[in-house]
Order: sequence, then C-alpha cells, then structure tokens
Amino acid sequence: MDQVEEVEALRARVRELEARLAESGGRDPFRRVVESAPYGMVVSDADGRVVMVNPQAMEMFGYGMEEFLTLRIEDLVPPRFRGGHDGLRRAFQGHPETRPMGAGRDLYACRREGSEFPVEIALTPLDLGGGSLVLSSIIDITRRKRDEEELLRYATKLERSNAELESFASIASHDLQEPLRKIRMMGERLATICEADLGDQGRDYLGRMIRAGDNMHRLIRDLLAFSRVGMRAEGFRHVNLIEPVRDVLSTFDLVIEETGAAVVVGELPSAEVDESQVRQLLQNLIGNALKFRRDDEAPRVEIAGGILATEAGEFVRIEVRDNGIGFDEQYHDRIFQIFQRLHGKTDFAGTGIGLAICKKIVDRHDGRIQARSRPGEGATFIVDLPRRRKPTNERPSKEP
Ligand SMILES: Nc1ncnc2c1ncn2[C@@H]1O[C@H](COP(=O)(O)OP(=O)(O)O)[C@@H](O)[C@H]1O
Ligand SMILES: [Mg+2]
Repeated sequence: MDQVEEVEALRARVRELEARLAESGGRDPFRRVVESAPYGMVVSDADGRVVMVNPQAMEMFGYGMEEFLTLRIEDLVPPRFRGGHDGLRRAFQGHPETRPMGAGRDLYACRREGSEFPVEIALTPLDLGGGSLVLSSIIDITRRKRDEEELLRYATKLERSNAELESFASIASHDLQEPLRKIRMMGERLATICEADLGDQGRDYLGRMIRAGDNMHRLIRDLLAFSRVGMRAEGFRHVNLIEPVRDVLSTFDLVIEETGAAVVVGELPSAEVDESQVRQLLQNLIGNALKFRRDDEAPRVEIAGGILATEAGEFVRIEVRDNGIGFDEQYHDRIFQIFQRLHGKTDFAGTGIGLAICKKIVDRHDGRIQARSRPGEGATFIVDLPRRRKPTNERPSKEP
C-alpha cells in the first residue's frame, strides 16, 4: 500500500467512526442519563462559563439552549448573593471533590425573568482532559420547603393549643380548690357542732357530703398534678434511681406496716431524669401495687432495675411487680388513659388519674410504660427510660 492509499484508508476509517458516533448520539447511555435525570444539570468551565445543560435545567431556569450557553454560572444566582459567589467558585476549584453545596444553608437560584426559587445543589468536578469542568446538579425544592413550612406551622399550632389546654386545666382545678375548701370546712363544723341536733338521716346526709367533698379534693389534686407534668418540669440530671425509690417507700411506711407488706428492692441503675417526676411515677406505681392487694394474702412488692442496650441507645428499665388482684391484660392500654379504672370505687379508692400521670411523665422522658397482668395473679409495670438525654429544643418550663 503506497502513502496515498494509506491516507485514503485512514480517511475512510475516520468517516466511518464519525458516522457511527453521529448515529449513536441519541442512544449514548451517558446522554440518556443526563437527559432523563430528575434534576437540572449545568456544566461550567474553569471561568464559570456554562458549556452544557440538560433540558430539565432549561425548563427550571427558563432559558433556551443557545442563550443558556452564553451565561456564566453566576447569572443563575440571585443578584443579592452574586457578590460572594465568585470567591466560593474559586475555593471549590482549589479543592475539587464531590460535595453538597452550602450544607446547612438555604440556597436560592434565579430564573430568566428574575424570580427566585429555593434549590439544593451538588457539585461534581469533571476532569475531561481539556481543563477542569464542574457539574452542578440542581433540585428545585419549592414544594418540599412549602410542605416543611406547613408541617412546622401545624406543629406550632398544636403545641400552642396543647399548652392552652394544660394551663386551662391547671387554672380551673386550682380555682375549684378554694370553694371546695370552704364547703369541706363548713361540713366539718356542722358535724362537730350540730351533730346531736341532726337526727339519723341528717347525719347520714352529712357523712355522704363530707366523703364526696374528700373525693372531689383528691380529684382536683390529681388533675392539677396531671396538668402540671409538662409545666413544673425541674430539668434533667443524673440520678441514682435508688434514691427516689427510697424516698417514695418512706411515704408508705404506715401502709406497709398495717398490711404487713414485704417490699423487695433490687439493684437500680442511674439515669438522666427529672427526679421529681420519677418520684411521682414511682409514687403512683408503688401506691397501686400496695392498694390493689388481695385480702387473703399480705402484699409483696418487688422493685427491680436493669439496663437495656437497644438500637436507639441505652435505656434503664424499672419494674414494679406485685402479687395483688391483677387485671385482664386486654385493658393494658386503657388503664393509662385518664379516669379509666377497672376496679370499683367502693373497694379501692382512687381517681383513675395516677397511671395517666405516669404515662405523661414517661412520654416526656421519651420512654415507654407497659403493664403485664392476669386476674388474681398480680401485676407488673415496666418502665423504660433513655439513660441519657438527647439534646432537645423543649420549651423552658413555666408556671401557670
Ligand atoms: N397494680 C395494679 N394491680 C391491679 N390493677 C391495677 C394496678 N395498677 C392499676 N390498676 C388498674 O388500673 C386502674 C387505673 O390506675 P390509676 O390510674 O392509678 O387509678 P387509681 O389508682 O386512682 O384507681 C386502676 O383503677 C386499676 O383498675
Ligand atoms: Mg393509682
């Protein structure tokens, strides 16, 4: 083959390759990715000039292809942010690596007609031999932002109406105390001063009135405690759980003695909790364990603790177990609702608020409370609380 033939053959080969390239243009897998990507793609060169865009970017920004290719990347940034952008772009070129842009900051882009929209952008350096290029992948997050804002508004509204309800319950029950105090006081006076003049029926009525007054007093006291769980928060600190257990047991000295109860306290861990609320929690659980006793057997109450390692972190577990009358486990959720009682008022005094307070306290600790029982076979209440507090943005506690 002479030189002329050789050149001709080479030309033919180039033409053939060119034809194949042109033909495959529409099916080039890379191009297909770029064109079907769910986000706008803009490739710019080292000077920030736009050298390639996909149809999504054209639609997003409102430029036709030709006009787009005359722009600089800064033209896509709202004028109020343009000042610093040049420097940022150069900083990226100093350390080119794939990364999200402006992590933690709100980013905005600017359409052809000047309107702004919120975006999320990832930057990818492309080294195609002929100088460094940058691929910006851009997502319009207008919808997501609007949804987030709506959700936030809704949560704020809900929080406010919850707080209002709580302070209403608190103020109402507080204001009910005063007239009730007077009614009870007058009842007592009537009983001591005029009892002899009352006759049997009168004494019976008066006795019932005084008992109803006492019930109402307990009800108001418990309602007040319930409504204040969220408000009178003392704050979380590390507490050795044996301490609140001891404190609470000492308040039951008399009942324990009278009923001949056996109380067994196992080892208890420490945890970061609101101590006064944990005391309130134990007061209710241990109080119930002693109250719902069988009349044919002395009560036995066991308080045990442990640590659970879970995917969500470490939890402390506190179990309060008794050998009392128990209950049907199908009601294990209902008993935590306010005013729900499974046993008659005449047999066991109470308001049905204690376990609702427990639930509220446990919720505020981001924990969990469960009940296990069978009628006649005692009951076990299991409380799991996170061992350490996650940082939260809880409102500071406030008085009603
Ligand atoms: N240790 C227990 N053994 C049996 N039943 C219990 C026990 N603790 C709670 N309960 C049931 O759950 C109900 C709700 O408990 P609680 O809210 O503390 O109200 P209260 O003690 O005022 O009745 C009780 O009325 C009782 O029926
Ligand atoms: Mg109770």
